[in-house]
Amino acid sequence: MQTDALRAESVRKVYRGRNSPDIEALSGVSLRISKGERIALLGRNGAGKTTFLRISSTLLAPTSGSVSIFGRDAIADPEAVRPYLAVVPQEGKPFMHLTPREQAYTYLRARGFSAETAKARAEHALEQMGLTEVADRLSITLSGGQRQRTMVATVISTEAPLLFLDEPTIGMDPFARRGVWDSFRELTRKGSTILLTTHYLDEAEALSQRLYIIDEGRLLAEGTADDLKRSVGGTLRVSVVSGDGITAQLATFGPLVRDGDTVHVITGPQRIQEILELAAHSKLTATVGPVTLEEAFLRVVGRSINDES
Ligand SMILES: Nc1ncnc2c1ncn2[C@@H]1O[C@H](COP(=O)(O)OP(=O)(O)O)[C@@H](O)[C@H]1O
Ligand SMILES: [Mg+2]
Repeated sequence: MQTDALRAESVRKVYRGRNSPDIEALSGVSLRISKGERIALLGRNGAGKTTFLRISSTLLAPTSGSVSIFGRDAIADPEAVRPYLAVVPQEGKPFMHLTPREQAYTYLRARGFSAETAKARAEHALEQMGLTEVADRLSITLSGGQRQRTMVATVISTEAPLLFLDEPTIGMDPFARRGVWDSFRELTRKGSTILLTTHYLDEAEALSQRLYIIDEGRLLAEGTADDLKRSVGGTLRVSVVSGDGITAQLATFGPLVRDGDTVHVITGPQRIQEILELAAHSKLTATVGPVTLEEAFLRVVGRSINDES
């Protein structure tokens, strides 16, 4: 039997409030990740992504439920699984008085790699993250994006069997984000397994082979980005701004997905013209585009990924 890289069963987490109500951050999360997969956990702020990542990487104990890593019980025996893991925590910072080169090298040495391997791997990861030119500057002198890249470089240089990355590209420019994505693809090609969290729809789509949508501590959907888009019920969307007044008519063309005061009609190419005419007749603006992960997210969660309410 093939052993899963990560298996979580009914993971629940309640943060006990001192002078505030308890918060149930996870309400029974179960998932399985096979060896070599690249998986994204996609959700809004406060959905429970960080809590899940911390529990599954042995940094936080769940209230109940189980986690196993390569077939070993990660809650009963975290020490046994830690050598297989590496984690980029949310808002982690490099040591400010080390350079990126020193940080990556030192971390690898601490994990038991030889000087030669540590040097070669650190160089490769720094190059992949576009840090070669700043590799000998103290981290305190680096920009936020460069510091984040240093964290990612340090952790990916381990080539650990199971990598956890919490919002790895936050604060990075588009070019740096592509470098991170490429490095993750290379790592899974070499056999590592990756679980990352993100609230960027494009990142989840470009990077993951499967993704889970999480909201309010529950997994609401699972599949490839294409599966999730198909589940919306059409290939095209017509977005009608302030379309609330004509929802009954719009609904005759296909499923509706709401985003604030915009109504998206999910449909096929043959109905587009009629919908545009209906909108024009009501003096409303309408645009046409392919169905994206955004509509899938809206349909599953009922709110936009950037909705913080
Ligand atoms: N240490 C903590 N103590 C109390 N509540 C917390 C703590 N960490 C997170 N929470 C709450 O748990 C919920 C999930 O948070 P989190 O896992 O950080 O979500 P995400 O990473 O998706 O933004 C939120 O309501 C958050 O406020
Ligand atoms: Mg988080």
